Amino acid sequence: MTENRPDPTSPIRTPQPHPPILAMPSSSPPSTAHSALSSPVGRTLPGPTLMFQPSSIRTTSASDVQRSDSSSHVPPRVQFGVNPTPSSSSVARHPTFQTDHKFLRVSVLGHDTYICGYNLTRYLARDIVKSFNVATIAIVTDENVARIHLPKLLVELHHAIDDVFGVQQLHVASAEDATPQPGSAQPVISKISTKKDAPTSPTSPTDTYTPPLTSGPSSGTLLRPSHDSSTASLNPSPSTAVAGSNTPVSNLPSRPRPRVVYHVVPPGETVKTREYKAKIEDWMFGAGCGRDTVVVAVGGGVIGDMAGFVAATFMRGVPIIQIPTTLLAMVDSSIGGKTAVDVPAGKNLVGAFHQPRRIYADMEYLQTLPLREVLNGMAEVVKTCAFWSEEDFALCEEGVDRVIEFAKGNRDPVSRDLITRLVVSSARVKSYVVTNDEKEGGLRNVLNFGHSIGHAIEAILAPDLLHGECVSIGMVLECEVARALGICDQATVERLARCCAAYGLPTRLSDPLAVRLTGGRSLRVSAEQILEVMRVDKKNRAGRKRLVMIKSIGTLHEQDATAVDDRVIRKVLAPAVELISPAHQSGPAVLMTVPGSKSLSNRALLLASLATGACTVKGLLHSDDTQVMLEALKRMKAASVEHAEDGKALVVTGNGGTVKAPDVEVYLGNAGTASRFLTAVAVLAGSKARTSSDDDDKESVGSSGAEDGDVDPQIRAKQKPRSEQTKVSEDSVLPPTSAMIDSAHPTLRHSGDKPHPTTLTGNARMKQRPIGDLVAALNANGCHIAFGEREGSLPLVIQPTGLPGGKISLSANISSQYVSAILMAAPYAENPVELTLVGEEVVSQAYIDMTLSIMEDFGVKVERLPDGRTYRIPRATYVNPPDYTVEADASSATYPLAFAAVTGTTVTVTNMGSRSLQGDSKFATEVLAKFGCVVEQTERTTTVTGPAFGQLKGIGTIDMEPMTDAFLTLCAVAAVAVGDTTIVGISNQRVKECDRISAMCEQLRRFGVQVAEMPTGLTVHGAGPEGLHPPEGAVKCYDDHRVAMSMSVLAMGLKQGLRSIVGEKRCVEKTWPDWWDVVEREMGVSLEGVDEVVAPEDEDVTGAKKEVVVGTKYGPSALDVVPYAGSTSVVRAETSKLSDATIVIIGMRGAGKSTLGSISAKNLARTFVDMDALLEKKIGISIHELIDREGWEGFRKAELQALKDALELHPTGAILACGGGIVETEGGRDLLKAWGGKREGTIRKGHVLHLTRDIDDVIEYLTRDKTRPAYPEEMRDVWNRRKGWFSDCSTIEFVVVKGKRGVVNVDPEDETYWDDVAKELVDRLRHQLAQVDDGNAKFFPGGVPLPPRTSYFLALTFGDVRTAVPVLEEVTRGADAIELRVDLLKSHDQGYVREQVAILRRNSDLPIIFTVRTKGQGGNYPDEDVNAMFELLENALKWGCEFVDMEVIGEDQPSRKDLMETLLKHKGNSKIIASFHDFEGNVSWDNPTQPAIGNLAAGQAIRDGKASGPVSTFPSKYKILEKYGDIIKLIGMAKQRSDNHALERFVLSVSGPSSKPLIALNMGAIGQESRALNTFITPVTHPALPVPAAPGQLSIAQIHQFRHLLGLLPERKFFLFGTPIAHSQSPTIHNTGFKELGLPYTYTLSETGSWEELQSVIDKHARSGRFGGASVTIPLKEDVVRHGVAEELSDAAKQIGAVNTLVAVYGAEYGEKGYRIVGDNTDWLGIRRSVWKRLGTFAGGRGTVGVVIGGGGTSRAACFALKQMGCEELRIWNRTSAKAERLAAEFGGVAIHELKNSLKSLFSPEGSVRETTFIVVGTIPAQAQNGIDLLGMFAEPNGQKPLLNDTSLASVSRTLPVAGITLTSLTPNVSGVVVDMAYRPRRTPLLAHAVSPDALAAGWSFKLIEGIEILCEQGFEQFARWTGRKPPSSPIEAAVYREYRE
Ligand SMILES: NC(=O)c1ccc[n+]([C@@H]2O[C@H](COP(=O)([O-])OP(=O)(O)OC[C@H]3O[C@@H](n4cnc5c(N)ncnc54)[C@H](O)[C@@H]3O)[C@@H](O)[C@H]2O)c1
Repeated sequence: MTENRPDPTSPIRTPQPHPPILAMPSSSPPSTAHSALSSPVGRTLPGPTLMFQPSSIRTTSASDVQRSDSSSHVPPRVQFGVNPTPSSSSVARHPTFQTDHKFLRVSVLGHDTYICGYNLTRYLARDIVKSFNVATIAIVTDENVARIHLPKLLVELHHAIDDVFGVQQLHVASAEDATPQPGSAQPVISKISTKKDAPTSPTSPTDTYTPPLTSGPSSGTLLRPSHDSSTASLNPSPSTAVAGSNTPVSNLPSRPRPRVVYHVVPPGETVKTREYKAKIEDWMFGAGCGRDTVVVAVGGGVIGDMAGFVAATFMRGVPIIQIPTTLLAMVDSSIGGKTAVDVPAGKNLVGAFHQPRRIYADMEYLQTLPLREVLNGMAEVVKTCAFWSEEDFALCEEGVDRVIEFAKGNRDPVSRDLITRLVVSSARVKSYVVTNDEKEGGLRNVLNFGHSIGHAIEAILAPDLLHGECVSIGMVLECEVARALGICDQATVERLARCCAAYGLPTRLSDPLAVRLTGGRSLRVSAEQILEVMRVDKKNRAGRKRLVMIKSIGTLHEQDATAVDDRVIRKVLAPAVELISPAHQSGPAVLMTVPGSKSLSNRALLLASLATGACTVKGLLHSDDTQVMLEALKRMKAASVEHAEDGKALVVTGNGGTVKAPDVEVYLGNAGTASRFLTAVAVLAGSKARTSSDDDDKESVGSSGAEDGDVDPQIRAKQKPRSEQTKVSEDSVLPPTSAMIDSAHPTLRHSGDKPHPTTLTGNARMKQRPIGDLVAALNANGCHIAFGEREGSLPLVIQPTGLPGGKISLSANISSQYVSAILMAAPYAENPVELTLVGEEVVSQAYIDMTLSIMEDFGVKVERLPDGRTYRIPRATYVNPPDYTVEADASSATYPLAFAAVTGTTVTVTNMGSRSLQGDSKFATEVLAKFGCVVEQTERTTTVTGPAFGQLKGIGTIDMEPMTDAFLTLCAVAAVAVGDTTIVGISNQRVKECDRISAMCEQLRRFGVQVAEMPTGLTVHGAGPEGLHPPEGAVKCYDDHRVAMSMSVLAMGLKQGLRSIVGEKRCVEKTWPDWWDVVEREMGVSLEGVDEVVAPEDEDVTGAKKEVVVGTKYGPSALDVVPYAGSTSVVRAETSKLSDATIVIIGMRGAGKSTLGSISAKNLARTFVDMDALLEKKIGISIHELIDREGWEGFRKAELQALKDALELHPTGAILACGGGIVETEGGRDLLKAWGGKREGTIRKGHVLHLTRDIDDVIEYLTRDKTRPAYPEEMRDVWNRRKGWFSDCSTIEFVVVKGKRGVVNVDPEDETYWDDVAKELVDRLRHQLAQVDDGNAKFFPGGVPLPPRTSYFLALTFGDVRTAVPVLEEVTRGADAIELRVDLLKSHDQGYVREQVAILRRNSDLPIIFTVRTKGQGGNYPDEDVNAMFELLENALKWGCEFVDMEVIGEDQPSRKDLMETLLKHKGNSKIIASFHDFEGNVSWDNPTQPAIGNLAAGQAIRDGKASGPVSTFPSKYKILEKYGDIIKLIGMAKQRSDNHALERFVLSVSGPSSKPLIALNMGAIGQESRALNTFITPVTHPALPVPAAPGQLSIAQIHQFRHLLGLLPERKFFLFGTPIAHSQSPTIHNTGFKELGLPYTYTLSETGSWEELQSVIDKHARSGRFGGASVTIPLKEDVVRHGVAEELSDAAKQIGAVNTLVAVYGAEYGEKGYRIVGDNTDWLGIRRSVWKRLGTFAGGRGTVGVVIGGGGTSRAACFALKQMGCEELRIWNRTSAKAERLAAEFGGVAIHELKNSLKSLFSPEGSVRETTFIVVGTIPAQAQNGIDLLGMFAEPNGQKPLLNDTSLASVSRTLPVAGITLTSLTPNVSGVVVDMAYRPRRTPLLAHAVSPDALAAGWSFKLIEGIEILCEQGFEQFARWTGRKPPSSPIEAAVYREYRE
């Protein structure tokens, strides 16, 4: 299995004698050893009990010591067994602590250095004190670890020292005694034993001990001379100590009593520097540490590495002990002695090898480690298993849930066992490797699997990505490199990637997780960047990079890294691939096995396993499904499987139908096919053998069965009887054995010998998929299959009954897989089977036929009776053919065959022939043959030979309806052919991964091919190879695998040597993951990896990938709800896919370029460059001086050059702020225009942002600032000269509007509006720069919510928006967008309009529709000012308006067409509403071919040819508008009701799932009906507006009333469930909202404490379609989850574990019942929204500490909210600590035990560059708050102001000398916020304390959030979910506060 592995028996380095300083435990005298550590009174240590040890790990007996050393070479698979009670000899040889505490040992470099167990602190303290003859024990740790774990460690060390040295020593010790004594005597071991009688109970029990960590310096001393006050709380009072001590002085060790000192550093990689190392060393010197010091590193890898390095060099080296506290440190960094610090040149570049003397891996630490850190460590575990042990890798795969549960604090024994096993296994592998190659000769390199690329990624993306996360990506990529070299196969890559992904680790740079964590930076990492960093990898030799390669999971390619060319690595890393067209000569046929069809792959695997003999299976598809099937079959011992032919084939040796129930449950993920097939197979576990040959097989199975499972049979044999096992002491601190697991979880693991059931289980989705009919059929036949959880779904517990056989009836109208399952298992039934399919119809007969056919291939012929529904299956044994090739996926097979066609070569697909039943299998015979290819087919192969290169001929029209997926391949062939090919019948291809017809047209054109697009297909005018050229830039694949593969075929058909680039190369992975390897290796085409080159036409006019959105005719439903802006995390968190091109900021000096630029840069994760500063740095003198020396001209020249250089250096990922005069020179303007693509003939490379601010404000500010050079001219003249240039050069414009709401009369001193400005700009950039499609149909790019299906826009009809500001909130209630009618504004001047947009933006969150309506179209804008109008529209795009209305008229005039097309080109992320208004009522809604019944006048006009102007019909207009708009708006004029009916008919005729959103309505009074019926952004008015924008406009409330009367908006009832609720404000909230929007809904109280009652109310009203939803409060919030009242849960509800909102969703898809109840939790959103309001949406995150007070249900939502906001730390206090502990474990926080001082203690220690902001959330009722020391929390004087936080906006504003801007709410010069969820009284004790005089005097300054506000906010979120509408918050709040009585 692992032939490359070192010989396990080969000798390794002989154990070195222990260094003298160590008193090794093994030298302890036997007889007294036990008593030596008898614990002090009251702290009795557990007596000798069972020991659980890995067989290959150090054990306790003397002989075992030997075994341990040699056995460490066997493959280090950890197995647990039970050792007999230690024999006397073991006691004799080992010190007592081994029998008191149980642990696992691993030998490193011949010493038993590594000790792993649970709760080791007491043990390790004694071990250190006893074993190390030192004067000082110097602990180095970090703040996080110190807070949680240091106290206990200090206390235990204290006790250990007391135990060993006697308590009175303290009393008598003089300062001299306590001073380290160099060269003091060695410990006299025999004397230690005299501690037998050592007394003393500890005077400070662990749980009440508070270390002096928080009171000042971050270092301390334990057991210093008694005059040191900081140790007072630690040391027992002298009198106690003396009184308690009976120790005879003569029995004490003669060496001096050691002291303990500690030093705490801030957490994180940033401290791993030379500077911190020096700080620690200085501290050690200061603390009097000498050579007799042992350094103890307590922490993760950072602490271990740095403290290790300190120890390595301190006084030329002192010993180091590692106490790893992270998983990563336990399995990796603590072992091996590598120590280092980071330096500017790179990570870990300065360090030393310094082996630790001890490593204590206390698993207990993992339970406080944040989940992400645990998963981070799992990357290293997975890594080790991946290169070393397939078996352990399988454990990782299965153990995902358990590991995560463990990390969350779940202490169940199975999880503990599993994770311990993984840790020790990994540690053993690492120690094995280290032992055999201490100083990195070669073998040690293998530990670097995944690290060559991983480290490079880490160098670029840290600290956003953690080490393990980078290693995870690195492993998968390195494995792909191995695949590209033919070393491993695709299955290996996939298995590895799947396992990493299961642990929540990213596996690609484009992984959404990586993108989110890095704010989009991961997408910008190029292959070249990675290669560049890899250049300094220490494994490189002679300039060649070397990577560790695995052959398969668990097997190394070689025991060292392997040299790899950069070219190969680049190919894997680069996002795009360059193909070099090959020579086109026919040679011998290329034989290709194409990835198999998925259905056939699964069946082939199953049958080969059930058959006798060996079969080499080729052509398997590597998908999740097949992988799961394979693993399950192996587990069931159905077959043994080996890889062959370099991984291209599998040799399956079947066991003739004998299967064995595995000892553990079989996890099938979401693999549906596997679950069905295996259910039928699992019953066979009990089948009796039938033939002698079967019996032989069975025997072999039996013997292999002994190897099965996780328990070593030898160990099993040694196991004690159960009765003894149960004797395990309660105090046991070790993980249980497998045997214990057996007894505790009989269903998880079985004893192996007696028959037991098979348990099949899957993921949550799988547990919902049906399998009931199959189970029913099998049970009816005598099988025993039980449902483990839910009736009808997995998990299944399948008894090994065998299949009785005979007649079986099966209902087959759900899945043909049920039929196939029984068919395939049936030959092994005890009697021949007659299977009859019952029920109405049989689904997918084709698949049943496929099963029958493949069964025949494996030797079993099934008879199908003439009724067509009955199958007779004989008793038989499948027989394996020697080889079986799975038939290809026929669509995939088209590519290599087309390759033959276009290159004039011969290709044989070896696994698809005439016998195939797949539609696309006819591609060769029915399509390629027509082109003149020679096609030869056998039953199972297809060979195509293309005509000589250049001789392909177009084939005229072809209907591809029978094989639509193959049309893309056909396009490639048709393009290389000469002549036309017209492809029809493929309209379904418009709604695949992308609109494939448009996509192909677009991309073919880029190769120089002429194409004509039609609704149902296209015509390719092939011009032969002569007419083809490679496209400029990369081929765009629309993330569609078929586009990518067909386009690569076309690229290969170009003339020899031409190079084409195909982008998004990874999209082929969907069906053919190693396609590019195949192209290179098998088709002989040279490939290079290239970093993506942007295609010039990226601004895609046709929008080939259409958003499937909205626009359909449904009423509102819960699914329709787009929560209002900012209300869900999705809005902000998932917006990171930004176009990364650099932004250049221009604008007047003093506009805020630097301030706002740097804030934006921080928030968009970009680099900020201040060009002035850069220039000064570059030239070495100030700008003043430069101007003095060289004059303005010289300065301008230098400035321009600096910008050129900066753009070259930072083409992406940066924000550059230029000086104001950059536009003064022609050269400057040219450069900017070229950057923004605004200069003739340039392609847009990036963005130019013009930041503009009222010139008077600028002047006022500039005259104040004396630090800048004066202008030679008047400021205003400068502005007038430049403003045109700014506008010409910019692509984005942002106006800084003065004043809080943009209204002029504000307090001139009040500049707090800058907060809003900053937020607005960041949001704007997020939206405008987001890449055009993030695939989320509910959001615009950038996360701006798209209006829901039912939506409204309010048309603003003011001449000046300022006058609308006071009523804006009121008039927009319930609307989803605001239309700014520019034509109605007082002035159409660009500057005026720009300001109007800015004011609107400042005063409303709603998206803006920018409309300039011309007179001819019913507006007020002069028809003739076309150019000025388009200039306005262009500017609207620059200003970031979400929608721009473009009137599509005069489209036949070239100049107008040009204007329209240019606008579309520039639209970026805005949406264009293509509009057309027929104000005259001349245009008909009916088709031109139909008589115009609708509009008589228009119809008549058309018929008479008298219509004025070019009269059209709306249907034909629609077609034109469709080309231009993202949204189409058609407005007619109703003269009679039939006009509305015609409109209705028209709308129905054009609506479909992929049609563009449509606004269609008729104006006029009669047309009002059509307004009410239009659903998508219906224009509305409001009574408070001066005039409606159009005749007939209605308000939202009117439309709702109208729809209700028509029955389109049914009445709904909403409830509040819970008790007591009599005083609830919820009815006020919701009923006010309903009324305001005219919704026919009511909200009432339904007081109950019983969930059954709640359920019955819901059932009653939901049945009649009246139930809309409900609020749920105490005590039912958790009940509705527990009892399944909520049938589906939102993610938040799931994580919080409670529901406060129920939503009814109605729809046919919910079956007979017709509805489904969805549970959500909005409490947390209420908290978040209110906090955001106070601290800005940038709040949360680094430097923020969340504090939750209380431990009840609401506190769960609070914890969740704080975590979601990104609080770095979470602290929880509750009266009952256990509850707080539980919450802390679950949400990744820490429980605090005492409120007093708690906030103060969380302040960042002095010297740290961080600032702390607190978000305190109280969740206990006000009455219960009395008596809690809330004031103590706030009142303790902290004496220090919050420190600067360099990661927050605060530092930006405080450190940048700009524009006189002070950001207030964004700068938390407040201490934070205090939220109280209790709302009666309004000012609760908690809130009162937070702002009490005492708190203020202590320097605290909190903002308060009252419970009533949260109540409203969470209610708003409910309202949005129920109604699909934004709640009208002002009137609701007004009503609530009115009703609310103190
Ligand atoms: N020497 C080696 O052979 C080697 C090998 C691998 C990695 N490394 C180094 O290790 C470092 C990464 O180590 P890491 O991942 O352990 O990071 P880390 O040391 O920074 O720890 C991660 C975080 O978890 C916190 N933490 C640690 N233990 C905790 C506990 N029990 N409970 C709560 N919080 C806890 C820490 O304070 C820190 O914030 C890197 O510098 C890397 O170079 C070294």
